[in-house]
Amino acid sequence: MDFSSIPHPAPVPGETRQQALADPGFGTLFSDHMVSIDWEEGKGWHNATVGPREPLSLDPATAVFHYAQEIFEGLKAYKQADGGIALFRPEENARRFNASADRLAMPNLPEELFLESIRQLVKADRDWFPSVDGGSLYLRPFMFASEAFLGVRPAKKYKFLVIASPAGNYFKSGAPAVSIWVSRNYTRAAPGGTGAAKCGGNYAASLVPQAEAIAKGHDQVVFLDAVEKKWIEELGGMNLFFVFDDGSVVTPPLTGTILPGITRDSLIQLLREEGLQVREEPYSIDQWRADATRGDLVETMACGTAAVVTPVGKVEGPDGAFTIGTGGPGQITSKLRERLVGIQRSEIADTHGWVMRID
Ligand code: PLP
Ligand code: COI
Repeated sequence: MDFSSIPHPAPVPGETRQQALADPGFGTLFSDHMVSIDWEEGKGWHNATVGPREPLSLDPATAVFHYAQEIFEGLKAYKQADGGIALFRPEENARRFNASADRLAMPNLPEELFLESIRQLVKADRDWFPSVDGGSLYLRPFMFASEAFLGVRPAKKYKFLVIASPAGNYFKSGAPAVSIWVSRNYTRAAPGGTGAAKCGGNYAASLVPQAEAIAKGHDQVVFLDAVEKKWIEELGGMNLFFVFDDGSVVTPPLTGTILPGITRDSLIQLLREEGLQVREEPYSIDQWRADATRGDLVETMACGTAAVVTPVGKVEGPDGAFTIGTGGPGQITSKLRERLVGIQRSEIADTHGWVMRID
């Protein structure tokens, strides 16, 4: 599909942009352009545009406002040592986007069109890479029901958009490890629900427990399974790995209630290449506490595109608080983070074909 290209008539002035790029934080700063593609029943995908980032004008009856038919993805473009730009496993985001679309009764977007949208936007906004160490251009593809209709059924019109946000650290505190609150009153996803889909509604439901975590002095909430309230699932926006002193690693299995993280999948492969035994199996909150207290569990890491690989230092569960290892970053977590970031920036050889150069 051909994209019409409309350069921004009044982009952010260079000096203002450079200042903002020195300290981008996460999710507050946006580039000049966006990609937009429409879908309509009987017509399919059409009207692909890379143009100025601007407000949308939508009828108040637009279906997404009422029934939350919306999905999104999150991936990053990385500046390479030679000045080029690369994406990390973007075809996996394209695939997961369509899996989310299937669950939310939305049309699939051809993978190549997903990838081309990202290429188009990154090229239009190539001056928007942060100047801070570890910075990247965070890309947010999303799709929503754009038909003005109040009946409860899949919409007949959708919009697919991609916006870009220069990103530094996801965690403001810059602390060496994050502290986690185990939610007792709320769960994130039940069997048969939408836990494995990346839909906005899952995140809306995580806000109260996340606020509870913050109010209790923690950075993030960890959810337990909805049936037995016993098995550790994931954080609001990250998957978890548990590292033991015998060189084995456990991560919760993909049973349909957690998001199949692309970082998670990559870390499983990297850990196995390091000679560690990785098991995808249920792990309970009681076991976590017991293993951490005894010292058998030496590290816990949280991972995701936004948070990369972040050590968990402290946990507050139903039976009180406990510390993981020394409470700071452990060896495996630090090593894995370095390897992953090294591959993403092409400082380490990409032996898996994970890095897609786009410029
Ligand atoms: N779990 C949830 C709920 C998420 O929102 C994310 C972030 O996208 C992840 C896990 C990690 O997924 P990925 O590694 O693909 O970014
Ligand atoms: C990501 O890691 O890309 C996420 O989507 C997590 C969060 C910002 C929603």
